[in-house]
Amino acid sequence: MIEHDVVIVGGGLAGSRAAVEIARMNPLLKVAVVAKTHPIRSHSVAAQGGMAATLKNVDSEDSWEAHAFDTVKGSDYLADQDAVEILTREAPDVVIDLEHMGVLFSRLPDGRIAQRAFGGHAYRRTCYAADKTGHAILHELVNNLRRYGVTIYDEWYVMRLILEDGQAKGIVMYHIRDGRIEVVRAKAVMFATGGYGRVYNTTSNDYASTGDGLAMTAAVGLPLEDMEFVQFHPTGLYPVGVLISEAVRGEGAYLINSEGERFMQRYAPSRMELAPRDITSRAIVQEIRAGRGIHPDGRAGGPLVHLDVRHLGREKIMSRIPFCWEEAHRLAGIDAVHQPIPVRPTVHYSMGGIPTNTDGQVRSSPEGLVEGFFAAGETACVSVHGANRLGSNSLLECVVYGRRVGAAIARYVENRKLPDVDEQRYRREAEERIQSLLDQAGPYRIAQIRQAYQDCMTEHCGVFRSERVMQEGLEKLRTIRQQAQQIFLDDKGKLWNSELTEALELQSLLIVGEMILYSALSRKESRGAHSREDYPDRDDVNFLKHTLAYYSPAGIELRDMPVTITQFQPQERKY
Ligand code: FUM
Repeated sequence: MIEHDVVIVGGGLAGSRAAVEIARMNPLLKVAVVAKTHPIRSHSVAAQGGMAATLKNVDSEDSWEAHAFDTVKGSDYLADQDAVEILTREAPDVVIDLEHMGVLFSRLPDGRIAQRAFGGHAYRRTCYAADKTGHAILHELVNNLRRYGVTIYDEWYVMRLILEDGQAKGIVMYHIRDGRIEVVRAKAVMFATGGYGRVYNTTSNDYASTGDGLAMTAAVGLPLEDMEFVQFHPTGLYPVGVLISEAVRGEGAYLINSEGERFMQRYAPSRMELAPRDITSRAIVQEIRAGRGIHPDGRAGGPLVHLDVRHLGREKIMSRIPFCWEEAHRLAGIDAVHQPIPVRPTVHYSMGGIPTNTDGQVRSSPEGLVEGFFAAGETACVSVHGANRLGSNSLLECVVYGRRVGAAIARYVENRKLPDVDEQRYRREAEERIQSLLDQAGPYRIAQIRQAYQDCMTEHCGVFRSERVMQEGLEKLRTIRQQAQQIFLDDKGKLWNSELTEALELQSLLIVGEMILYSALSRKESRGAHSREDYPDRDDVNFLKHTLAYYSPAGIELRDMPVTITQFQPQERKY
């Protein structure tokens, strides 16, 4: 059996930052990062627009309190304000720390870190590295993993969390390269496994974003929080759905409908294209529904709108948003210096996730904590984003809470012993699970079931929702779940069996999708990214609370958890 003091699942920003912090605090600890891909290919690498922090390099009147207020208002008052305060207070310090690690942020002419406008932020506070910010940060963090002697297990798929008697004791992992199974025991386990964009058929997320950490947590009977809040980024490149960064609008791009109108004046006149994402995504869908969308050939009445940067000029486009230009060019054949970019909303981010306290320790209930289990980043829900995340607060969350949770883990494992784990039992169980997938003899192929599932979630739990549409979705999901047990795998081998990995991922997707639909059905109001056509108003009397969903194959149970309100009382949210 493999042994480590700490095992961190996920090699993206939150996981890597936590590992570095643990190693900095106690170099004697044996820390491991386990990742499904190479850490540098974690989805954090695709983050584009930047990371918010009140450095005040551009807008000197900015403050952490203003950042906190914007974040809470953006969250439609569902964020836990104690967690938001930590996020926004610590932001400048973590940016400077990253700079000291070697991250190459873009600069102002006087050499200080540049900052740009982003949706829902009242000041220019987003620090960036052109439109490749995640790439710049992740590369330095992964360099630091090596520098601090963190053990990296790359291309290992984690199949389960070992949880016994309310204590996390380790993980079971499967080596994608050669099919080996290993049981790992540790004094603390941390999940930093990212999001679940692949639940939907159009997403900015990479192929690995299949919600495995969420599904593993749910599978051992622990709750997931606020799963109804799925973020649609307004500007996914049509038709592929990859991200065209909000930085493009931060630099001054316009959103235009088929009538040549900057339609955001109808929805958010004071913020226009820089309204928060929930409002902007709904605006685009409403324009398309009203027949003011555009066809790919330019005719009116189509499924997209235009993102126009032509007035910015070649030099600004190529220096501030070169990657977005390249994406549009390579994937849609558009030269954005001369042509508008076709866009529509794309699934981007999960506001909900594994519930944690502000030290990243996972909750078992509104009152209880799990021993030895921590989470941070997109997979966690410390609830700094509530019902809607502001752009550029996600990289920030990964780094602030990655650092904070790393420090909490370093303290937690001090003077603790490695837990006892029955290696043979967990190894056998994993082997049986794999063998039963290989032995399935039904008529379906994975791609067919996954497509049906993603189409179902997209149609039945999208930007706009209603009881009837979601109930129909749940019924379809039941059928799809049964079909998923009749998938036939062509590859029965052990070496790089990507079909087997996809079959395991499909099991994760199915659990996560059901949790989203159940939670969304229970919230009979509209708040942030959860927009119900049958309950169009926010209802603070009945729904100013978090949803905790507990999974079991027999059904999902829901509980409520109070929202922490400190400085900002809920108000009407207008932009
Ligand atoms: O649009 C973007 O660059 C995305 C940023 C974010 O999700 O924070």
